[in-house]
Amino acid sequence: MSFLDKHQKLERNLSLMFVGSLLAVLVGGIVEIAPLFYVKNTIEKVEGMRPYTPLELAGRDIYIREGCYVCHSQMIRPFRDEVERYGHYSLAAESMYDHPFQWGSKRTGPDLARVGGRYSDEWHAQHLKDPKSVVPESIMPKYSFLANAEIKPESVTGHLKANAVVGVPYTEEMIENAVADLKAQADPDADTDGLEERYQKISIRDFDGNPDALTELDALIAYLQMLGTLVDLEAYKQEENLR
Ligand code: HEC
Repeated sequence: MSFLDKHQKLERNLSLMFVGSLLAVLVGGIVEIAPLFYVKNTIEKVEGMRPYTPLELAGRDIYIREGCYVCHSQMIRPFRDEVERYGHYSLAAESMYDHPFQWGSKRTGPDLARVGGRYSDEWHAQHLKDPKSVVPESIMPKYSFLANAEIKPESVTGHLKANAVVGVPYTEEMIENAVADLKAQADPDADTDGLEERYQKISIRDFDGNPDALTELDALIAYLQMLGTLVDLEAYKQEENLR
């Protein structure tokens, strides 16, 4: 009996085929899942990652509300073309405080995982109000209304609390000061000592170029300018080389 004949027997017997398929799926499943129980950590240890500030969190909320993720990913894959274009590939740790994550599934526009610091605030404000005015061939929609939409700072407290429930390490103090912190981050004249103590590597300035109002544009630009800037990648690379 040749091998093919034996296989024919398997293919023609429903019960045998079922048991065979089950075995194949079982082995494949174990090989994929079992190692996860033995690795100490699936999120690499990095320096610098912190929960988002109240203003960044509000900006992130607008990012989700406006569906920016429909056209933009936040996940640089470890391929040469991506790393050369966008920077160091994304680390799991960089999205550990994202609920829900913003990796995205489609890139109509560029990846935004490391867009922080790449452009000035003025560029972002102009680009969001009218993308074609800075990138003539752009097909990104206009979001000019964000510049006139004032933020309601009170709503951010509940937002921090909800994130704390799902594991983001917001302290009591951070939650208590959330509203004041949100206002202070966009106000260069505010007393920001406490804010800077609570959140490392934070940018404090009037993001939208309109000091008279705290707008959704302030929050969104604060969020964009933070993206990809928190983790100390030099320290991470050195650590990788030592391993
Ligand atoms: C219909 C798809 C689409 C949507 C929705 C969209 N964008 Fe874009 N975005 C693009 C395209 C295309 C580009 C590239 C051309 C350009 O720079 O305008 C782009 C570029 C950008 C850039 C510049 C990135 C770089 O590295 O040059 C930023 C920042 C950006 N978008 C932010 C946003 C934000 C924030 C939102 C949500 C408020 C958003 N986009 C919604 C399509 C989109």
